[in-house]
Amino acid sequence: MDMLVIRGGMPLRGTLAVSGAKNAALPIMAAALAADGPVVLHNVPDLVDVTTLARVLESLGMSVIQDGSGRIELETLSHDPCLADYELVRRMRASVCVLGPLLGRRKRACVSLPGGCNIGHRPIDLHLKGLRALGAEISIERGYVFARAERLRGAQIYLGGPFGSTVTGTCNVMSAAVFAEGVTTISAAACEPEVIDVGNFLNGLGARIQGLGTPVLTIEGVERLHGGEHTVIPDRIEAATLLMAAAITGGSLRLTNVCREHLAGVLDVLTATGAELEFAPDCLRISRPGPLRPADITALPYPGIPTDVQAQFTALLAVAQGISIVTDKVFPDRFLHIPELMRLGASIRREGASAILQGVPQLSGTSVMASDLRASAALVLAALAAEGETVVRRIYHLDRGYDRLERKLNAIGAEIRRVEDRPENMPASLQLSADELPPPTADCSDGPPPPKFLSRSPGVRHAE
Ligand code: UD1
Repeated sequence: MDMLVIRGGMPLRGTLAVSGAKNAALPIMAAALAADGPVVLHNVPDLVDVTTLARVLESLGMSVIQDGSGRIELETLSHDPCLADYELVRRMRASVCVLGPLLGRRKRACVSLPGGCNIGHRPIDLHLKGLRALGAEISIERGYVFARAERLRGAQIYLGGPFGSTVTGTCNVMSAAVFAEGVTTISAAACEPEVIDVGNFLNGLGARIQGLGTPVLTIEGVERLHGGEHTVIPDRIEAATLLMAAAITGGSLRLTNVCREHLAGVLDVLTATGAELEFAPDCLRISRPGPLRPADITALPYPGIPTDVQAQFTALLAVAQGISIVTDKVFPDRFLHIPELMRLGASIRREGASAILQGVPQLSGTSVMASDLRASAALVLAALAAEGETVVRRIYHLDRGYDRLERKLNAIGAEIRRVEDRPENMPASLQLSADELPPPTADCSDGPPPPKFLSRSPGVRHAE
């Protein structure tokens, strides 16, 4: 297992290109299962999650050729397999995106339930509700979703849930509905740019989906989809993370392959915190000349602030001058990064779905543990701003979703080393020496122990 050793305090300056969007590339690759003909994708990010999904698709009878340059060729060799096995699905929840395309094209699917997730409870009840409405028979047995349908029929489907719309649920139902007889209407559909990209991809193969980017999708069923070629949109979450890397270090960055419209909420908050932004077509420049100001943010479905940048904003606001409140209404328990940020010196209190931050002037490097993908990015950001060295462990989470993040950051002036997670690779600066420990107090030296007190009511102290 690897870890990152990050020396903080360097303002980042330069130009970086944003990679293709993970959350568009994965459901698009899965949707390629629905095509009768070869599919060529461009701008696919080089990620562990992409490789994992490639293995899932191979197990489902597809040939997947990745050349490492962002181009992937997918072609179905056999339409017989229908099993997405637990061993692969448990590594990546997005594997569940094969359910809709399999059911639509092959009329049957057996997909493992993904299991628990560090960012909170993630049921797939809405996916199943939508597929049942199209006429699929669905049961859950031995940890697998068994789905079958001789014929899918167009239906009126409401896909809203207690936390808003569902991104992969909309992709799943849309990919199956493409083959349903008649017309399907999905209301409370997710409006995320990644869902639009999946819809545009399917339309490029001959599907008839209207209303993409709005909460109401109308899908006219077709007999079959042909092959085709598609370029994945830029990753707005990676773009936001890189912009925050420049902002937290007081640097300046020019980003290319970026879509300004997809980042509207994020850019609004960055401006509120004191960042200066300049726009050109396909390119965006950020600098942060003055101090970081506090801000209140709430993660909501698109076009709200994405939950996938909540952790990174928490890191940024941890060093702003004042009090900020960060709320997550999509995943209200997505706060495992807080105790780790506090190890770096952040002052944060969690209250339900919110984190209340009192900005501190300086974080100080230490060893921290990544709990999930975006929490890892938040820790990297905090480490870039912290004094001294920070070690971020369990970075396999980071590799799942960022295309060479440390290489990109090093190219603009960061000092990040990837080393194996072994005791001998821990930086000496993180070992505490005896003379750094607080000196013993008179009470704690060899004399009798002081009496212990138990507070029973304010202002009154009772001996235990
Ligand atoms: C996708 C993204 C993920 C992002 C999330 C929210 C991919 C591969 N992943 O995940 O990075 O954080 O959107 O923007 O695109 N819910 C239900 N029932 C369901 C489905 C979801 O109650 O059947 C709830 C979830 O628990 C969550 C909310 O709805 O509270 C949104 O989840 P959803 O949009 O489905 O997230 P994913 O598609 O899994």
